[in-house]
Amino acid sequence: MNNALQKSVLVVHGPNLNLLGGREPNHYGTLTLDDINRQLKEKASSANIHLETFQSNSEVELIDKIQSAKDKIDFILINPAAYTHTSIAMRDALSAVKIPFIEIHLSNIYAREHFRQKSFFSDIAVGLISGLGAMGYLLALDYAISQLNQKA
Ligand code: DQA
Repeated sequence: MNNALQKSVLVVHGPNLNLLGGREPNHYGTLTLDDINRQLKEKASSANIHLETFQSNSEVELIDKIQSAKDKIDFILINPAAYTHTSIAMRDALSAVKIPFIEIHLSNIYAREHFRQKSFFSDIAVGLISGLGAMGYLLALDYAISQLNQKA
């Protein structure tokens, strides 16, 4: 539970990211999703920020989660995974809730197949980190913390 004064960050992981650790480690590294979430929680808690993580393979659940963040969450970090390249519905959910977000990819989507080089999220994101592996999440969280501390 967070208290009313504490700022909140939501980390959203899209489809197949539950398989991290064993999934194509040449692209996605060897850390599991639990490892990444643990590192994020440690960083957030030392900055007195409430951090919630959510992973789903379902576009509907991801949209519902984003919608439910309205008026509760101050910043979103999101790796939409394959939905990056297909989901206008998730983009619309992020636009609707008006919560600033950073788009994150473990791999550099611009150095891979052509179909990965289109993102429905980047132009409405605060920023994009792609290709820095799990460290990308931590760098994005650093940025979110610095922004939230300025507003506190
Ligand atoms: C990914 C890149 C996507 O193209 C892919 O579908 C993923 C993961 C990444 O983190 O590099 O599932 O978002």
